[in-house]
Amino acid sequence: MRVVIKDSYQQLSLAAAAEVAQAVRIKPNLVLGLATGSSPLGIYQELIRLHRAEGLDFSQVTTFNLDEYVGLAPDHPQSYHAFMHEHLFQHINVSGERTHVPVGISDDFGSYCRSYEQQICDAGGIDLQLLGIGRDGHIGFNEPGSSLGSRTRLKTLTAQTIEDNSRFFDRPDEVPRFAITMGVATILDARRVLLLASGKKKAKAVARSLEGPISSMWTASALQLHADATVFLDRKAARKLKQLEYYHWIQRQAGDICP
Ligand code: F6R
Repeated sequence: MRVVIKDSYQQLSLAAAAEVAQAVRIKPNLVLGLATGSSPLGIYQELIRLHRAEGLDFSQVTTFNLDEYVGLAPDHPQSYHAFMHEHLFQHINVSGERTHVPVGISDDFGSYCRSYEQQICDAGGIDLQLLGIGRDGHIGFNEPGSSLGSRTRLKTLTAQTIEDNSRFFDRPDEVPRFAITMGVATILDARRVLLLASGKKKAKAVARSLEGPISSMWTASALQLHADATVFLDRKAARKLKQLEYYHWIQRQAGDICP
């Protein structure tokens, strides 16, 4: 895993956005995996800026979101559909037909989730997947105990995740308890993965996932098996890493090779 540590959330967002933008320039029909939540907001703002200022072109890009709350229709203001529209899609020239966010309402979640996997497959697989990380180490909504071989499916959220997500809702009892999420194996299939974490609340999950044993109890630890995963951290999220000095050292050496 490549570990990039920046001084601030703003800096890590710019660094990660630069890699996404470069991927889109190299492959205009990139298949981009997207996340919601606070972590990718800075990247989305920078991608919007690059679209407006430099004409970064998303017209051929296909997107797949990681997850969606069960029970919220796409037009619900707290749905991840609405989130993506508000924070990214409406500001760039991505085609509505090429954006995919799981739908949280279905008569048959099993077959719906299989069809979501099939759509990813039909698009040629995900080239670059953006990820945040939960305080319990989840990626997507793969909560502790999720199989590291899991595919897109319905998951029950933990009490801690429900509490963390309650900041987006008016009342705690409105926070959904279930989500559809890509599985850990779906995420590992992406050709490249960028994980973002900022703030001291994420420090334990980051340390356990990057430097602890690979375990379904910290599903982000499965990224240790990925051949092309980069983790962008601010100093607070990085502070519990045992190899912190080594990661800084690597960054300095890379700067010498690629000034
Ligand atoms: C969201 C997602 C989640 C979040 C995670 C961190 O699509 O898949 O795994 O990335 O819960 O959320 P934030 O970024 O709000 O701290």
